[in-house]
Amino acid sequence: MRFNVLSDDTKICVVMVGLPARGKSLIAGKALRYLAWVGIPAQIFNVGTYRRLDNPQPAAAFFDPSNPEGERMRRAAAQAAVSDMLKWFREGRGIVAILDATNSTKARRRWIHESCRNAGVETLFVESTCDDEDIIINNIREVKTTSPDYKGQDPEVAARDFRERIRNYEKVYETIDEDEKEYTYVKLVNVGSTVIINQIKDYLSSRLVYYIQNLHIKPRSIWLSRHGESEYNLEGKIGGDANLSTRGEAYARALPELLRKSGVPKDAKVTIWTSTLKRTIQTARHLAAETGYDKLEWKALDELDSGVCDGLTYAQIAERYPEDFKARDEDKYNYRYRGGESYRDVVIRLEPIIMELERSENVIIVTHQAVLRCIYAYFLNMSQEKSPWMEVPLHTLIKLTPRAYGTDEQRFKADIPAVSTWRGKGTSAHHQEVPEHMRV
Ligand code: SIN
Repeated sequence: MRFNVLSDDTKICVVMVGLPARGKSLIAGKALRYLAWVGIPAQIFNVGTYRRLDNPQPAAAFFDPSNPEGERMRRAAAQAAVSDMLKWFREGRGIVAILDATNSTKARRRWIHESCRNAGVETLFVESTCDDEDIIINNIREVKTTSPDYKGQDPEVAARDFRERIRNYEKVYETIDEDEKEYTYVKLVNVGSTVIINQIKDYLSSRLVYYIQNLHIKPRSIWLSRHGESEYNLEGKIGGDANLSTRGEAYARALPELLRKSGVPKDAKVTIWTSTLKRTIQTARHLAAETGYDKLEWKALDELDSGVCDGLTYAQIAERYPEDFKARDEDKYNYRYRGGESYRDVVIRLEPIIMELERSENVIIVTHQAVLRCIYAYFLNMSQEKSPWMEVPLHTLIKLTPRAYGTDEQRFKADIPAVSTWRGKGTSAHHQEVPEHMRV
């Protein structure tokens, strides 16, 4: 494998390949979310969407390769999608386009490869094949309930038609093979159980391939929790490596029951991830002791480094570094503390965490406010403008359950008071003291 540094003009078209119901749109959607999260402008061009402009709900016979009218309209839809995509690149609107379609013949792939090459765009073919009936049946169920092609139709009729559509595609389907060895491609068998990689030429493609090869579709949840309230939280100070407060310790003791109440599947193995700072390790210790779950400490999960402001309150920062304080409010995502980090820096150091999370099954992550916001933004596709301002209360467990087309979220609040560490734009007050009578 050869890696080039990402040059300024690198443009990549990720070309999905595979029969219907092989998880292509799922992979495309996740890759798009990942790219947005790392700040790479990307867009999906879905050939089905273009075809629907002329034929919104075709029956399976439309996809029969011996149907000339169907063939003509499908070719026209593919041409319109590729033409819009190349225009999008020409106008400098993005770096990665994802062409979501079956692209099931060698002739179609050659045409895409040549069209892209002539426009100075690299191609990365991603073929998803699948011989696991359970995965296919699940995907068929998903398609018939979510695709606009079958909106308003009887689900059983829709499922029969969709199977027939797949049989029509199978008549002409050609897998990527030796004839296409000059292409950059990745072949995924049963969503990641076997992966074949060919001719990766640059750094961005290798990142994308690494991401895609880590994906799986086994049911699982990811739980996110901040550490329990710390002694620094009580004083309104940021950063540091303080111990838990008395109420923080109460949250740590309550966490095993809170997790259980949130619904851990029977016999599921959950792994506990913490940062290397005392307050997250202390928060997870009763959970680890009571459940026997494996525990991992990650430096990458440490809180955003606030540099010279470490150990100060927001009011002190506003007084000592007024310009910095204002600059941070204006662009919180990109503002880097003197001698410290920005949210953008945190996202970069969290990339290996996301890769590992995609490979893993059930994980509970006990971490810090800024880090949790970044991880949450990845799963919920939250913008860089919004995520640094998101409210993540202490003593609250967030359960995320990835689904085929999005992530479900539930929140479970422990009945243990804590200070609020949320600060609104333009204020230096973030620290609300909890009245004495409410303290644990
Ligand atoms: C579609 O028309 O739904 C998709 C066309 C294709 O990718 O084959």
